[in-house]
Amino acid sequence: MSITASESVELKEKDILHSSRLGVFSSDAAEYTASIDIDVKLLSSVVAINSAHVIMLAERKILDRKIAGQILNALKQIPNDFEMKAELEDVHMNVEDYVISKIGNDSGGMMNLGKSRNDQVATAIRMALREDLILLAKSIVKLEKSLLVQSGKYSASVMPGYTHLQRGQPVTLGHHLLAHFDSLDRDFSRLVDCYLRTNLSPIGAGALSSTGFDIDRDRAAELLGFDSVLENSLDAVSSRDFATEAIYLCTQTMTDLSRLAEEIILWTTREFSFAEISDEFASTSSMMPQKKNAIVPEIFRAKTSQVLGDLTAAMGLMKSLPLSYNLDLQELTRNLWSAMDKAIVSISILSDVISELKFSVDNMMEAVKSDEFLFATELADYLVEKHHLSFREAHNRVGKLVRHVASNNSGRGQITTASPKVLSEILGVTIPAEELKLIFDPKLALQRRSAVGSPNPRLVKEAVKKRRESISKHEATINSLEDGISESRELLSSAANSIEKLGKGTGSLGR
Ligand code: ARG
Repeated sequence: MSITASESVELKEKDILHSSRLGVFSSDAAEYTASIDIDVKLLSSVVAINSAHVIMLAERKILDRKIAGQILNALKQIPNDFEMKAELEDVHMNVEDYVISKIGNDSGGMMNLGKSRNDQVATAIRMALREDLILLAKSIVKLEKSLLVQSGKYSASVMPGYTHLQRGQPVTLGHHLLAHFDSLDRDFSRLVDCYLRTNLSPIGAGALSSTGFDIDRDRAAELLGFDSVLENSLDAVSSRDFATEAIYLCTQTMTDLSRLAEEIILWTTREFSFAEISDEFASTSSMMPQKKNAIVPEIFRAKTSQVLGDLTAAMGLMKSLPLSYNLDLQELTRNLWSAMDKAIVSISILSDVISELKFSVDNMMEAVKSDEFLFATELADYLVEKHHLSFREAHNRVGKLVRHVASNNSGRGQITTASPKVLSEILGVTIPAEELKLIFDPKLALQRRSAVGSPNPRLVKEAVKKRRESISKHEATINSLEDGISESRELLSSAANSIEKLGKGTGSLGR
């Protein structure tokens, strides 16, 4: 990739970028400032943008159709494995250089009329990001489906619910998994929002102030599948909030899911024994033969930090940039792809982990039954309902009872094993044995909850059903986004064909 100083001098003769204005460009500087390593991802979009721009120029009679046809034909010949030269800095100059080398400077040299690398790169990033956002949407839906299957399967399985990682009250496993589904579903709706703001076209904004040629920005936007133009030319070339928003989306989604990853790690410990991760996603120790480590969720947690790092870097990079374009923006693109790549892959593999996770419902139920403190709130509620105590009074009395039981049992203990005398003394009321039993029944505690969003198995089943419908809607959304992109590809190629045909028919300048 690097070029020597003597090569630099030679290049100066041919280099379409540095040839006249500047002297020799240092090879170290070329390597240091080049973006061709990350530009590979932009190549097909850059080719499409050049085609759309040239078609628009020809349609507006700004560019001779014959020349336009030649440029379009040269652009078509760019191979997928197009080798880019670092001394040309980026994909934009490499594509232009290729076209000029094919059809000469008189024709090829017209391709950049009325546009700049600044509007072009902003447009290309948006186009590449559209596709990444669709991949991310697919990963999210894949994980949503895994969560929903497991939630449905375990809609009635009782487990301890936690606050502060201390046992709180019984919940259902299906309900717990649906909590993760719901936060992920908000991430999906953020993604759709982000897509709308991404799918706006900067091309035609030029370097910063558009152009004096009578271009049609709407037409270029249409040919590239954008919803509309990003209007203000300074904003169009210099804003990257669509990109930082996408990195934030990755960060938020992965942060949400990193909590699930953390729970899988906890639940698969012997201390919890609530689940077993599939061998496919676990590893053992090189020394301790018994180990089964949940390494995929561990790496998920770590990648979440890296994506957060991308967000921090990107926001930091933006905060002091004066309008409009500055080359710093190029480096933000690295953070964008890094975050998108990590999020897409991580969410997809976490979905596989969830599908294959084996939950131990017996161990969860055992954890609930062996810890009657989980029902302390139920007991307090009972005192309010049956004996008309204020809640605070009931809370105090039950708290005293728990303290008494725990102090005699090294912090643990079963409330119902306390003698009826002690119970009546501390609670100040006598609870018949058969009623006491009902208070500590996990299934009844869950059934008593009928408010919307409760862990009641009946409500969990209904919630799962409702969320299945929302997944179908998401799939329809993804399809329509994909259709938009493929329709614009067809539009672009048929518009290019007609310009090429017209170009062959006329010999005259269309201007
Ligand atoms: N490689 C640049 C980027 O990725 C393209 C725009 C460069 N513009 C410039 N005036 N040097 O942002």
